[in-house]
Amino acid sequence: MRTQVGIVGAGPAGLLLSHMLHLSGIESIIIESRSQAEIEQTIRAGVLEQSTVDLMTEIGAGDRMKREGFVHGGFELRFAGRGHRIDLQNLANGRTITVYPQHEVLKDLIALRLRTGGQIHFEAKVTSIDVVTSDQPAIRFATKQGETRELRCDFVAGCDGGYGTSRAAIPERLVRRDYFRVYPFGWFGILAKAPPSSEELIYAHHERGFALISTRSPDVQRMYFQCDPTDSVDNWSDDRIWSELQARVGGDGFELKTGAIFQKGIIPLRSFVCEPMQHGRLFLAGDAAHSVPPTGAKGLNLAAADVHVLARALSSYYANRSTDLLDAYSRTALRRVWRAQHFSWWMTSMLHRFHEGTEFDLRRQVAELELVASSRAAATTLAENYVGLPLA
Ligand code: DHB
Repeated sequence: MRTQVGIVGAGPAGLLLSHMLHLSGIESIIIESRSQAEIEQTIRAGVLEQSTVDLMTEIGAGDRMKREGFVHGGFELRFAGRGHRIDLQNLANGRTITVYPQHEVLKDLIALRLRTGGQIHFEAKVTSIDVVTSDQPAIRFATKQGETRELRCDFVAGCDGGYGTSRAAIPERLVRRDYFRVYPFGWFGILAKAPPSSEELIYAHHERGFALISTRSPDVQRMYFQCDPTDSVDNWSDDRIWSELQARVGGDGFELKTGAIFQKGIIPLRSFVCEPMQHGRLFLAGDAAHSVPPTGAKGLNLAAADVHVLARALSSYYANRSTDLLDAYSRTALRRVWRAQHFSWWMTSMLHRFHEGTEFDLRRQVAELELVASSRAAATTLAENYVGLPLA
């Protein structure tokens, strides 16, 4: 089997890349270990930056998002028992965010790719990626039926997420350096059949820990609260979850609207960057190269930004055989990656309760939140980063 760009992983990065290459007349084949149903059902984050929305629209993948997504022009910061609106649209030159779940983005991209003749091998396990020893890279994989196949290509795009195999094809120590930070807490996430409690998202700081009130639709709500990452969902009855969330967001009479909880899960929080994001003819994009803690919802958006840079570099190569943009890929992408790392770390640090946190730290956090809520300069920094800086 042969193609121009072999893509490992049918997550947001792999699918977006495949479609953008297609629009430039470049062939690709995607190898994905999960089934289509699993990809389309896994619950992840739900906030799209303005640039991600623009990119989806530009490549013809934005119709359902435009119809069913919710455009938010602001969000609320709650601390010290009160809410403060951050007017994103006003502070960030009219830019907004769209609440549209990641698995819906994936459904739209898979449908679009299949409709336009894209090849995606689902349930296919990559066994090796050979990118170092030749200028004709090869991806070997086992199909769903257990047959061994080889995909030869000009370039490999590693888009297989934080736990994928492609990153390992960049030799550790000699070439690759990983930067890590693990946070001493996780997020307990729920989906509940309930009406929205507020028109916009709420990020809450509280001495009991962080809470986030988000939404999925007029009758399904997404909420999170900071928890012990080793805790088990079995320890949390619906009543206990609602009273914990209410305790963290209440204070001035604000009442959460409750309902039946139909999904519960705990996610760990970590920051990670792999440098460089390329080696020979292998290019990493999205979570394969980095992950951010979820505060601020940068993960999917960062994957889209990587792909924007990579698709342009590959198009330039095929159009005029110039490797300049490909050679600069990692350097270009890492600038935004580290910006997003800083932003996600900042939001996380400002809003969460740390183990070692003292009364001093709580008061310092409230002072920082007050600055963001009252200074236009500070709020603008938050807003510009939250809605996403323009793509490189
Ligand atoms: C959601 C997730 C986030 O990490 C965030 O910052 C905002 C919203 C969500 O899942 O809705």
